[in-house]
Amino acid sequence: MVGRWDEAPLGDLIDHLVTAYHRPLVRALATLPRHARGAVGPDFAGRVEELRELLVEHMRREEELVFPWLRRPRPGGAELLVHLLEHEHGDTLRRVRVLRAEVAARARVAPRAARALSARLRRLERGLDAHILLENRVLFPRALAAAPWAG
Ligand SMILES: [Fe+2]
Ligand SMILES: [Fe+2]
Repeated sequence: MVGRWDEAPLGDLIDHLVTAYHRPLVRALATLPRHARGAVGPDFAGRVEELRELLVEHMRREEELVFPWLRRPRPGGAELLVHLLEHEHGDTLRRVRVLRAEVAARARVAPRAARALSARLRRLERGLDAHILLENRVLFPRALAAAPWAG
């Protein structure tokens, strides 16, 4: 999956990331806090809402600040933001894993709603893993290598 993006134009990879990962993620996150509240309760739903806000803001910064710069890199640009985004990738993945593990533990003894939430979080984690892998391992290194003053 990563391989085919090693050579494709960076603009195509960015378009793919937005269409295949950002848009579906925003849709999946929109109903997740409400689902979490019904399945587990308000405290847990609050943490899911916090994760939703982090991810939406993360993707907004990518789309509005970093991706335009990666399409047309120039000195004094957004390379520091790229490093910040990489840091946030690790943070958001950790949060999803912790939430998913907590729900999975409840789902063993709890009703259907917790099992459905657990499945949704597992799908979210898988999508996020693939999305972050493409950004960290392909998009950012390729874009930074094409902008030799960055790093
Ligand atoms: Fe992204
Ligand atoms: Fe990202």
